[in-house]
Amino acid sequence: MPNDAVTVSHRDGVAVITMDNPPVNGLGAAVRNGLRAALEEAARDDTVRALVVTGAGRMFSGGADIREFGQPPPPDVPWLPELINQLEASEKPVVAAIHGVALGGGCEVALGCHVRLATPDTRIGLPEVTLGLLPGAGGTQRMPRLVGVPAALDLIVSGTPVSAAKAAAIGLVDEVVEGDVVEAAVARARALADEGAPIRRTSALEDRLAEARGTPEIFAEFRQSMARRARGFEAPYACVDCVEAAVSQPFADGLAFERARFQELVTSDQSKAQRHAFFAEREVSKIPDVPKDTPAATVAAAAVVGCGTMGGGIAMNFVNAGIPVTVFEVSQAALDTGMAVIRKNYAATVSKGRLTETAMEERLARITTTLDYGDLAEADVVIEAVFEDMALKKEVFGALDAACKPPAILATNTSTLDVNEIASATSRPDKVIGTHFFSPANVMRLMENVRGDRTSPETIATIMTLSKRLGKIGVLVGVCDGFVGNRMLYAYRRQADFLLEEGALPHHVDRVLYDFGLPMGPFAMADLAGLDVGWRIRQGQAATRPKHLRYSTIADRICEMGRFGQKTGAGWYRYEAGSRTPIPDPAIEELIVSISREHGTTRRKIGDQEILERCMYPLVNEGAKILDEGIALRASDIDVIWMNGYGFPRYRGGPMFWADQVGVTTIHDAMRRLHDEHGDWLEPAPLLARLASEGTAFGDL
Ligand code: CAA
Ligand code: NAI
Repeated sequence: MPNDAVTVSHRDGVAVITMDNPPVNGLGAAVRNGLRAALEEAARDDTVRALVVTGAGRMFSGGADIREFGQPPPPDVPWLPELINQLEASEKPVVAAIHGVALGGGCEVALGCHVRLATPDTRIGLPEVTLGLLPGAGGTQRMPRLVGVPAALDLIVSGTPVSAAKAAAIGLVDEVVEGDVVEAAVARARALADEGAPIRRTSALEDRLAEARGTPEIFAEFRQSMARRARGFEAPYACVDCVEAAVSQPFADGLAFERARFQELVTSDQSKAQRHAFFAEREVSKIPDVPKDTPAATVAAAAVVGCGTMGGGIAMNFVNAGIPVTVFEVSQAALDTGMAVIRKNYAATVSKGRLTETAMEERLARITTTLDYGDLAEADVVIEAVFEDMALKKEVFGALDAACKPPAILATNTSTLDVNEIASATSRPDKVIGTHFFSPANVMRLMENVRGDRTSPETIATIMTLSKRLGKIGVLVGVCDGFVGNRMLYAYRRQADFLLEEGALPHHVDRVLYDFGLPMGPFAMADLAGLDVGWRIRQGQAATRPKHLRYSTIADRICEMGRFGQKTGAGWYRYEAGSRTPIPDPAIEELIVSISREHGTTRRKIGDQEILERCMYPLVNEGAKILDEGIALRASDIDVIWMNGYGFPRYRGGPMFWADQVGVTTIHDAMRRLHDEHGDWLEPAPLLARLASEGTAFGDL
């Protein structure tokens, strides 16, 4: 008999096999056992003429149970690949009734069925690559046989699921059905049995492979085309190798090849890191003092104050999610400029074919502009994005408090200012919160949601829910200078500058960190972001800067030369007109050498490993302080921030996960040595010392 995780009902000669394993019908041991029993029973039972496979609840199946990876296999439970072979081998026709999602192993189960029907809202795909894996249950062998090599490569290497309509267009599903898909599948299964037509097994299809056999160069071309996107990742290349094997080898050999590559990947550090990333991104929504049932307010209308670089992008997020937004500015000229930038951004998406003209106009029509605070009265959430100036922010919050309805949440996009002080300018500090978007705000997925001392659980719940609705990953953090991400970034940046004074050059430091997997090194990034903002902040801090702490003046000296980065054609590097490619500049190298001389420093040769350790270990060390202070809830929250806000390579799982891989003791010992050599900034964090002495890790906290 099947078990609780798989049920079977009989409808006039058709056995309907239902996977029932909430929340996502993951294909864990119980489901696999249940499926095997159900298939055996259906094969034996002469009253069963055909089979339907489906999922209970919201979806067909979210795929293999990711938590089982890396665990020893339970005894006497079939592997998914064997089970799908058994399903495909059925002498009685099998129809998949797909709804919700069919992902990963779930999609592979569908590929093993003889016919696939799907509801219009279905999303189907093979996202294994995003977990550092490949579709290891026949997906790389069956998918190209069904949809052809180019479409299979796209699906498997991007990992992006497709809609039912697209799936039908490429031959992945046979029919999109309105209404009850299980009913439709039962009818189809019965008709197939009645016809007694030959069964169409995906593994036996050859036509689509034959097309690719004539053009073997497509694989080399594909590898080349994905090189930028896949830089540093192992899994995408393994995926291509397997699809190539589907073309060059018989099915059984291709399957064995796929299995071997899957086993390599599943035990790799990269896949462990990417699985960590998957769960970490789901953990962020769990907040101990804001339980799941905390009421979240409905956000039907929003407002944004300040339509500059950030405000414009934030407004786009709202309308993209279907929420109308009112944009407030100080002058008509500022409104016109801000709206022109928004329109230009949408037009660029339209020209790339990723948005229709009509959709663009619909989105623009959801934006209302105003110079009158009174027009913000009905907004449920207001996001302030004016200049980074405390007096100005307090003035704006005072005005918002007076103008907005009492339940409205007032949020600030400040990147450095104290949310508590901003909240003090209102009569509703419980409804004030930070929503720190990253630039470009319409693209970057991270939101650091900053809770003040008096921010209420309801406000937090509303903003965390809103983050999801905007398609973002919201991570809750506490108030401190720079919050989580930028505070750690400062620690890393500072050491990068000191390395220059000691003997390194910008392009060397940048190359090491780029090779580590960051999208760019600290100096190229500073040129992109603009050097003037940080300069202004540092000037403001000059009087209060502790004299005993080392301070590098290189960046200030570069700004004094009028070099603010890409926007002025020169910064840490120089740029040819119209190009964003950083070119090392002898003038800056001379400046750096002269500053070393002023300090009486004898420049020395600095190796790649030293650069990496000197930049990354202090970053981790700062993360440890942030954790100890309770500014971040979990080490994995810090990882989510760095992967989604700063391009920290996902295959390293974020800085804290990476630190555990390197070894907390190794990092602690290095920090102690660096502290002895270079002084106070590098003092090991107490938490790092504690973990090292206990022999535990950030992941154990
Ligand atoms: N295994 C284990 N747990 C899973 C899971 C999986 N495949 N998919 C989701 N979950 C868990 C989540 O961790 C979460 O748990 P908590 O509530 O404890 O945090 C819960 O299920 C709900 O998940 P979501 O919050 O993500 O729910 P959603 O409704 O927003 O999305 C989903 C549902 C689209 C299925 C999404 O969860 C998802 O994309 N899951 C992963 C899909 C995937 O990558 N599948 C491939 C697996 S690898 C594979 O199949 C290998 C192979 O070839 C054999
Ligand atoms: P910006 O200078 O591009 O835009 C600020 C806008 O605010 C201008 O359009 C200005 O006209 C408007 N403004 C000024 N006073 C106003 C007032 N009283 N009422 C309404 N509008 C007013 O600045 P940017 O870069 O968009 O920054 C805004 C906020 O976002 C700042 O707090 C900044 O620290 C923060 N931030 C900036 C990031 C970035 O990369 N630029 C990243 C994350 C946060």
